[in-house]
This record gives sequence, structure tokens and C-alpha cells, in this order.
Amino acid sequence: MLISSVTTIYFSPTGTTKKIITSIVKGMGIVNNKKIDLTLPKIREASAPLIDGDIVLIGVPVYEEKIPEVVYDFLENLKGTGNPVVLVGVYGNIGEGIVLNELDFITQKSDFKVVAAGLFIGEHSFSTEEIPIAQNRPNNDDLNKAEAFGKNIMKKMQNINSLKDVSFKIPQGKLPLIAKIVPKNSARLFTKTPSVDMSECSHCNICVKLCPMSAIDKETLEIDKEQCLRCFCCVKRCPKKARKIVYRPRFLVSKVLTMKNKIIKEPKLYL
Ligand SMILES: Cc1cc2nc3c(=O)[nH]c(=O)nc-3n(C[C@H](O)[C@H](O)[C@H](O)COP(=O)(O)O)c2cc1C
Repeated sequence: MLISSVTTIYFSPTGTTKKIITSIVKGMGIVNNKKIDLTLPKIREASAPLIDGDIVLIGVPVYEEKIPEVVYDFLENLKGTGNPVVLVGVYGNIGEGIVLNELDFITQKSDFKVVAAGLFIGEHSFSTEEIPIAQNRPNNDDLNKAEAFGKNIMKKMQNINSLKDVSFKIPQGKLPLIAKIVPKNSARLFTKTPSVDMSECSHCNICVKLCPMSAIDKETLEIDKEQCLRCFCCVKRCPKKARKIVYRPRFLVSKVLTMKNKIIKEPKLYL
């Protein structure tokens, strides 16, 4: 199959998913890349366009072992044109859950043909200096693996005459018990909205502009607690480090995260 254009669709508040997608496209060697960045609300709230790239890459971070709820509807409403799609999940070294199975389910219904999938590790949104979780991932090794994955996808596509001949199955993921019992949006229970230290803040409004939920008031810089995803993009992207992550209850949350982060995980690639 001739592949000369790609459409990349991703949600990436703290930038790790975007890094992985960019490296995969680099490895594919395709310059014609139409990007649909779902991180800010404007794009997500518009109706999903018809996706016409020769190949499509969809990348999401794992939230509570699944697709982030905030992009689910947009992705579910995408319309393919029978194009091949590569599914990518990026998670914070805790658990990938069923994210690829959910992406698989959605895209099969929307006239896409899944040809490859990958799970990568990104620094956990809740990671701090005190409790580092997958700090600085994806690292160079991860990005090299993403690039090689892109190259191998192109090799696979070159050997395919018709997508009808492709039989590809994603292994069934697992939802841990805790993900089944804690309520939805449990991050809101375990972490506070990051308040601003006004003695550090220069009121540059970067946090206001980057917030994926537009949940930060531009005058007071206060965050709407109900809207906030706890992605901590406002903490990680603040040039003055004027916000910080506060767990609650501190002891319990840090203990659970440390325990679950014991094994350093590596990317899993399905081709
Ligand atoms: C609300 C929320 C829930 C999360 N749930 C999980 C999870 O279930 N498993 C995991 O390993 N990481 C989890 N993470 C961490 C992200 O998947 C990880 O940090 C990812 O790299 C963020 O992607 P981004 O940089 O593209 O925003 C969660 C992050 C947030 C904000």
C-alpha cells in the first residue's frame, strides 16, 4: 500500500503523548502530517472531521486505566474512510488498563482498520521531585523505540496489498480491582487543585492558556475544582514554578503510587 500522508490525532496535556506520536511519525518518514491536537477544548468541541490521511495515528494518555473521558466522545464520532489506523496509549508506569481495547472498539466502529498498536511510558502527571513516577519518560530509549516502531509500521504497510488481508488483534488488557471500585474521576479525590503562590507568580497566564479544560480564571488564577482534570499541566508548564501538586491524604497516596511504580515498565508494541 502506498502511504504518503498521515493524520495524527492526540490529546496531551503534559506533552508526553505528543512526543511519542512525533517520534513515530519521524520513523515513518512522512512529511505530510495533518495534526488534530485535542488538548484544548476548542478542537474537541468542534464536530469531528472526516479523516482522510493514508494512515491515521491516534494517541491518548491513560487516565484511570482507560481513554480520558474528556476525549471519548470526539474519538467515538470520528469517521474514517477505510483507512489504516495505529493506536497509541501512553501511561505513567502504573497501569495501562484497557486503553488499547477501548481505542480498538471505537475505531473498528468508525470505518478504520487497525494495523498496529503501542503502549509507551510517560512521566506520570502526579510525579513530583519528592515522589518521582516515571520521571523524564519518555527518555531517549523510549523515543528511539517509537521511531523504530514508525519504521516497522511503514515496512508492514509496504507489504500489504489490501487491508482486507490484514488480521490484527490487540491482546485483552485488564482493569485492576481498584479501578473497578474507586469512583470515576478519582484523581479529584486524591489530589487538590494546585493553588498559586502569588509571591512567585508573574501573572503570565500561561496556565490559563494551556489548561485543557479552560478551568483557570484569568484574573484570580483560581481553578474550578469540578472542571480540573488533575493533569497538572499548569504545574509542569509554569515558568516560575508557582504551583505545586498536593496529594490527599498525603501519606496514603504517596504510598500507593510508590508501591505501584516499583517495576520500571517498557514499551509494548503490536504489529
Ligand atoms: C486523571 C489522571 C489519571 C491517570 N491515570 C493513570 C493510570 O491509570 N495509569 C497510569 O499508569 N498513569 C495514569 N496517569 C498518568 C498519565 O497517563 C501519564 O502521565 C501520561 O504520560 C500523560 O500524558 P500527557 O503527557 O500526554 O498528558 C493518569 C493521569 C491523570 C491526569
